[in-house]
Parts: sequence; C-alpha cells; structure tokens
Amino acid sequence: MTQPNTKQPNPANFPPRFTWGVATSSYQIEGAAHEDGRSQSIWDTFCATPGKVLNGENGDVACDHYHRLDSDLDLIRGLGVNAYRFSVAWPRIVPDGRGATNRAGLDFYSRLVDGLLARGITPWPTLYHWDLPQVLQDRGGWPARDTALAFGDYAEVVTAELGDRVKHWITINEPWCAAFLGYGNGIHAPGHTDLAESFAASHHLLLAHGLGVQAVRANAPGAQVGITLNLAGAYPATDSEADKAAAHRQDGFANRWYLDPVFGRGYPQDFVELLGAASPQAQGLVLPGDLETIAAPTDFLGVNMYSRSVVEDAPGEGFLGLRQVHVAGSEYTGFDWEVAPQSLTDLMLRLQKDYNPAALYITENGATYPDSVEDDGTVHDGARTRYFQQHIAAVGDALAGGAKMAGYFAWSLMDNFEWAEGYDKRFGIVHVDFETQARTLKQSGQWYRDFLVRAQEGQPA
Ligand code: FCB
Repeated sequence: MTQPNTKQPNPANFPPRFTWGVATSSYQIEGAAHEDGRSQSIWDTFCATPGKVLNGENGDVACDHYHRLDSDLDLIRGLGVNAYRFSVAWPRIVPDGRGATNRAGLDFYSRLVDGLLARGITPWPTLYHWDLPQVLQDRGGWPARDTALAFGDYAEVVTAELGDRVKHWITINEPWCAAFLGYGNGIHAPGHTDLAESFAASHHLLLAHGLGVQAVRANAPGAQVGITLNLAGAYPATDSEADKAAAHRQDGFANRWYLDPVFGRGYPQDFVELLGAASPQAQGLVLPGDLETIAAPTDFLGVNMYSRSVVEDAPGEGFLGLRQVHVAGSEYTGFDWEVAPQSLTDLMLRLQKDYNPAALYITENGATYPDSVEDDGTVHDGARTRYFQQHIAAVGDALAGGAKMAGYFAWSLMDNFEWAEGYDKRFGIVHVDFETQARTLKQSGQWYRDFLVRAQEGQPA
C-alpha cells in the first residue's frame, strides 16, 4: 500500500479574486416535480421505468429545494463561498419543449438569482443539466437536430430573463454523459443503447452549446460563457504500444471528441474513422456552418473532474477495444473511481497547452463515500475531506504551473438524487436526511468553509 496522500492546499497560493463555489443541478435537488407548470422530463420517465434507477427512486421530492429556497441560500451563504453553480430546468421554463414560456418557472430562477446576489454570491447557472422535456424526447431527443434548435430558443428565453443579473453562464453540462450514458450504454435517461444515436446526440449537444453561446452574447452583453465537459486523463496500464494506443482511443472518446470541436479544430479524424458508420459525419449530420457554431469563442472552459482512466488494450471489448483497470495501491471512492489528484494537475496543464482556454474552472469535483450521522450529530467524512484537500492542492499546482485556473466548485452542496444510483451515493458537503430534510454540515464542509476564510483573506496556512 502506498501512503495516503495527505497533501494540504495552501490558501495563500490562490489569488484573492479566485472563484470558490459549490454546485448542484435542478433534477437532483429541486423536487416539486409536478408543480407550477413543470412538465415531465426524461428523468421522470426513466425513474418510472422499472429497473432503471436503484430502489426505484426518483426526483419527485429530492432535497425539496424548490420549497426551501431561502433556507438553502442561507446554507450556501454560511459556507463562505462566493459563487453557486445550479442548473435551470428546461421543463419548468418551456414545458412543451418549444413555444410558450411558463412564468412561474422563470420566477423561481429569478428569485434564486436575486437571493444569491442579495447574499453576495455570484450566480453560475447551467442551461442544461440533463432534464430534457419528455415531449422533446418523444420527437427524437438529442439524436434529432430539432432538439438543438429548441435548446437555442429556450436559451434565448432564459438569458433574456436573467441576463441583466447573471454574468456567468454554462451552456451544457457533460455532453459525453448526456450522449453516451443516455443513448449509448443506456445507464442514464432516456436509456437507449445505440452507438450511432449516441454520436448523433453528441453532435447536437455541441451544436446546442454553440447556440447557447449566441443567446448569451445577444442577451447578456459582457457576460462570460463556456461549456462544462467531464474530462479524465487517459493513461495506459503499461508502457506497451498497444496500451498506449488504447489510452489514445479512450482520450478520443472521452476528451478530444468534445474539446477539439469546441476549440475550433473540428472532430478528431482518428476517432471519426474509428466510429465509421456511427460517426455523425457518416450519418450526414454535420451540416455546413455547424463546426463554426460549435467553435464560437468562449470565455472559459468548465471541467468536471473526479478521477482518471487507466486502460489496457482489449481487442474485441466494446467498440473501443479496451478495458479499464484498477491500479494496485490506489485508493478508490464509493463509485469505484480512483483518487488521482495528480491527474487533475496534469489535465489542466495539458488543456492550457493544447487548447489555450481563456480561463479554466473546475465546475465539479468531489467524492462519494457511505456517510452516517454519528451520535454527536456530525458526519466524520475524513476520506472526503482528504479528497478535497488533495484536489484543491492539485488546482494550486496547476495554477503555479501556468494553467489559467480561475475557480473551483465542490460537488456537491448537499447529498442529492445521484441519477441511476438514486439516493444511495452521497456527494454532499452537507448531509441530507431524506426523511426529515434535515441538513447537517459534514466535516468536509466545515473544512471547506474554514479553508475559504483563509483563502479569501489570502492568509498563509
Ligand atoms: C457528474 C454530474 C453530476 C453528478 C456527479 C457525481 O457526472 O454532472 O450531476 O452526478 O457526476
């Protein structure tokens, strides 16, 4: 066993204006699934489909955040963060997917934004974090081009409403997950298993991002906008050429497929060839002008980073011909994700070198472990605390190495509906008792709060 990495971040390594936040998403916390004109999303449908979500759970109530907005905003304020990343639920804003807007939905997010600003917290909305209106799935979902166009209209509505107050926008959260988990391996809504569909979806999600950028530029002049990608460094299990080639394929699949077009390089040719008939090109879906729309200049790249991939060549295994391997001596979180903070630093330095984003934000980072509230009323989540310490230190290393790191958001503000895992996987720095909705700051949250006091004062550790 290697020694656990106990590296501590030095608050003095971060500039005083660094963005420090916590993140959530609409379907995972809001509840109120059938209120105030919200229509059904693909996640409501998926949850209602037997066998798709652990224990048949759903987001009907979740953290009941919709009804607890003010006290949750006070909770965020108490953490001492200067930013809050949340997402806007499309089914609340345009219940029919396209067409009439729902005033009650807009009002909720308007109150949320005002409540943040009143508390001195910068709002960071994400326009799409996976809760597609079911009506749009019924018309083809993300594999259909019209969904991207509908997203453009929806983005226009939200930015027109909030653009006077919101100065930081994220278009799409993790298109890889929405495309591949949703349409490729079926682990997420809508649960399809078709490779060609999933790559059609990926193209339309990226197109939606570009249309979202246009909406922000039109309605929120001077605001910053970017996309959030889930990226993980791809490492070969051994030095063999075959494993290195496998790592390059994994990198194409998870990272370059999204980074290259967003940063104006078009889709990576090696991966287009690997996909063959399943590529959006072979399907005739990449229309003139699309690549320009996708490559619209952005102000930052958001990265959700949890772990890395270590892969070995495995001919015939899946369409990539590779297998993920466990690293002897490494620590793994409750999702069986390797704790690999050095890979965060490496990834940020590579992104800066290869793509030169104007700024880099970690828009999600965190870990799930089985927590419990102990007799003294606290949650002693030492492993999660160490995870945050190591990863924030890794952000500091990336900054020192020349990456334009501008902010960090912990995932998540509170335990919530973790998609296919239901309520089983807890990622919060605040514990939620889903019976009583009681919120309890975990030890990791106490650590983050105390660290932020020092980081924001620029005091040495
Ligand atoms: C990311 C998602 C987020 C959450 C974390 C654990 O892929 O963006 O909603 O589920 O993983």
